[in-house]
Amino acid sequence: MDQIYALIKKMTLAQKIGQLTQYDAAVLTDSDAAITGPKSAPELTNENLSMVGSILNFKDADEMKRIQDVHLKQDPNQIPLVFMMDVIHGYRTIYPIPLALAGSFDPALAKACAAMAAKEASLSGVQVTFAPMVDYVRDARWGRVMESGGEEPLLTGAIAAAQIEGFEGENVANREHIASCVKHFAGYGGAEAGRDYNLAELSMRELYTYYLPAYKACIDAGVKLLMPSFNSLNGVPSVANHTLMKRILKDEWQYDGVVISDYNAIGELIVHGVAEDQREAARMAFENGCDIEMCSSTYFHSLEALVRDGVFSEQQIDEAVYRVLALKNRLGLFDDPYHGANQEQADTFCLSGENRLLAKKAAEESAVLLKNNGLLPLDRRLKRLALIGPFADNHAINGFWSCMGRDEDCVTVAEGIRTLLPNADIVIEMGCSCAWDNLDGSKIPHAVEAARHAQAVVLCLGEAQSYSGEGNCRTELGLPGMQLELAKRVIEANPNTAVVLFNGRPLVLTELEKLAPAILDMFFPGSEGGSAAAALLFGDANPCGKLTMSFPRAVGQCPIYYNHPNTGRPSWSTQNTYHAYQSNYIDCATLPLYSFGYGLSYSRFVYESMHLSAKQLSEGSSLLLTVKLRNAGNTAGKETVQVYMRDLCASVIRPVQQLIAFKKVSLSAGEEQDIVFSLTDDMFRFYNMEGRLIWELGKTRIMVGCADHFVLTDEIEII
Ligand code: NOJ
Repeated sequence: MDQIYALIKKMTLAQKIGQLTQYDAAVLTDSDAAITGPKSAPELTNENLSMVGSILNFKDADEMKRIQDVHLKQDPNQIPLVFMMDVIHGYRTIYPIPLALAGSFDPALAKACAAMAAKEASLSGVQVTFAPMVDYVRDARWGRVMESGGEEPLLTGAIAAAQIEGFEGENVANREHIASCVKHFAGYGGAEAGRDYNLAELSMRELYTYYLPAYKACIDAGVKLLMPSFNSLNGVPSVANHTLMKRILKDEWQYDGVVISDYNAIGELIVHGVAEDQREAARMAFENGCDIEMCSSTYFHSLEALVRDGVFSEQQIDEAVYRVLALKNRLGLFDDPYHGANQEQADTFCLSGENRLLAKKAAEESAVLLKNNGLLPLDRRLKRLALIGPFADNHAINGFWSCMGRDEDCVTVAEGIRTLLPNADIVIEMGCSCAWDNLDGSKIPHAVEAARHAQAVVLCLGEAQSYSGEGNCRTELGLPGMQLELAKRVIEANPNTAVVLFNGRPLVLTELEKLAPAILDMFFPGSEGGSAAAALLFGDANPCGKLTMSFPRAVGQCPIYYNHPNTGRPSWSTQNTYHAYQSNYIDCATLPLYSFGYGLSYSRFVYESMHLSAKQLSEGSSLLLTVKLRNAGNTAGKETVQVYMRDLCASVIRPVQQLIAFKKVSLSAGEEQDIVFSLTDDMFRFYNMEGRLIWELGKTRIMVGCADHFVLTDEIEII
């Protein structure tokens, strides 16, 4: 560390400010790297590469090395650049989108996937990933729900912490690992009207209860960087938000890692209307602890003057530079500025058989069986099959943030089924498009004909990859285009139709649910999506994923989430039974179609009983909960046992149900197991109006099952 101080001493103010500036390699005149934001920074030439401290988005290890070499030749201080990228759900081998992967309820699996992505990325030249994204979400209209862990902070935090372990390993200097950056701090998922980049207005209680816990879990897991969000929170954009960045992050949580702005977010302080000019934007962001400016150049152009004018001391600049150099040092870049990157080795490791196997397992464990009247699993002896729909033979199933993943590397459903059933006679008909504005139904009759002649139909529907992800929001959540019409006609022609869905968000499936005998949701499953779908459809794998976000019955229910507080006139129902002067709708039930935690299996799990080791819980103590679970089916399977609580009376309204613990277990056919949970006092604390964590006495219900559908309940007293 003394060496870092010594290095900082040698640097000019301009050189220090360069360390606090990051450019997209796409602004380099001769790079053809993908760009992940508006091109706002001035073009950077090879000749002035010494001006910046870090780069995002570059093509591969060879390009990284070339840029690094040019930089090191120019930099008098010999400080290597650090290279960053959005490795969100895989680098080249793509695993399911985070919204789906969290539904595996399996932190160890999430860790293994992240470790694989880290190794692929690191060998390819990446040293830092902008993941995990842990924005708390409740509004399926928002396109970025696909990147999040869903509507449950505890689950999101647990999965994200495991991902951080997978990305970073024991030591980020290891060439198999990369540093990670938690984002987007905070409240980005609270975007009003589900429209990206829109404002969020959240009370302190709301922030602390729902939005902040997952970021905190990442900081506790040792994440190296943090990115403030684009949105304004309670009136001030996050990067300049004192309450968020100083009071909570630095003072309360004592976070001392690197803070990096989002893409042009500091420049956008001017557009937001909170900074008059670049100088003011730079001042606001730097004052609130943002170390690196991504893809705008307010620091580059104004920080020096702000120091000269006495607004900031050079010591303050040094502290930010120290954090950046300490990160480079931890990554071992002063010893090896390439961090072990090797294009040849990357080419061998990326998409290797072993990686594809893990991606397949992750896709199988993340898929959610939403409905099954007994049609699934399909019989492997079937001879005549029709694969229908825009996703029947579609490679575009990676999802929006698939980094270097390529559509052509994905196994389609048709390819997956053909491999599994090489002798079956398989007909493929697209039926219609999945574009929201394509209302051409002229090919539906061909699909109906194919359905009629088949013994069973696999109907693959969904929304395009580009309908979710950054900036991609929707006001309608149904199946886009003519797909519902296609489903009606195909299911009418052949009732042995299993629907397979591909989607980046909860969809409104109210009509489809009435029609379809079986629905399997794959979300965007990644490279091995088609082989995983085939395995699940034909019983080679047993569905075990659970929903991480509730599926609304109608878009008008949004935002909808399981862990909502009560009202004085509650009317929770799955039926459309309107009650005057109650909190309900005239034209729709209040509860979602499928709630958080829901997901079927080919096994039949019976929750026999629950037992609490004590009926009272005092501060500092814990008790044991034992759930007796039996697999009454004739197939081995996995079940996620979920434990919820409800504080029946408190000084602030508590959620009607809140997940406090979960365990995923495997049971062979007929097997019975006691699943034991330790319920600790921290599970029962909550945040008051000011956002202070408190302990209150009273009755609390303990429930087991999935949200809105509990099978076992008991009560304890908090004393
Ligand atoms: C903007 C996105 O909001 C953020 O998530 C991402 O990491 C950056 N662009 C860099 O691509």
